[in-house]
Amino acid sequence: MTEDQQKQIAAEAAVTYIEDGMVVGLGTGSTAAKMVDLVGKRVKDGLDIIAIPTSEATAGQAKELGIRVVGFDEVKIIDLTIDGTDEVDPEMRLIKGGGGAHLREKIVASLSDRMIVIAENKKMVNQLGTFKLPVEVIPFAAGALLPKMEALGCHPEIRMKDSAPFRTDENNLIIDCAFEMIEDPENLALTLSTIPGVVEHGLFIDLADIVLIGTEDGVKKFSR
Ligand code: A5P
Repeated sequence: MTEDQQKQIAAEAAVTYIEDGMVVGLGTGSTAAKMVDLVGKRVKDGLDIIAIPTSEATAGQAKELGIRVVGFDEVKIIDLTIDGTDEVDPEMRLIKGGGGAHLREKIVASLSDRMIVIAENKKMVNQLGTFKLPVEVIPFAAGALLPKMEALGCHPEIRMKDSAPFRTDENNLIIDCAFEMIEDPENLALTLSTIPGVVEHGLFIDLADIVLIGTEDGVKKFSR
């Protein structure tokens, strides 16, 4: 089974949790995009939901599929959010932000009753950190934050796209921090959150309730 197929079966398993009347958080990335397509199909078949997207890209996709998209002016609490991940460890801690959307993703996840994470098998790791940790920062502070990140034990780089610094949906920059291994994710999360100029980091701790991993042997489910 290809990685794409693993993402697809994880997405298929996740959308079975969606019920009529729910407010649903829609994640970002290639796996979440498969899930949004499936939600679109169910909406065409009569599923009645309201959705909060985690990025402009997902909002565009959802609207094209006829999914009703709202903002936090209309809803305050989300029943269920389904999103992808870049890494997930045995304690269901995540690294997210490979697509640069982790700020809105974390806001949506934190306001959700339940978060389901979907991914292909290779995203399961014993220890977080092989994937570079994305840290969204205010552009004004970026130059000063690079040495601060280095002092935390990583090799930091401003994310680039088409030869220019990548801009998030909130017009911020991303510093990708190569730690290789993150020994204490809770402690690092806390430290990063206290640095002025850091808007949000990609460590998601105590947010995932269910993890659905597509594997050669079908979908494996992990829950808290
Ligand atoms: C977006 O910023 C990320 O958090 C994605 O959820 C994550 O990068 C997973 O993306 P893929 O499903 O494309 O691997």
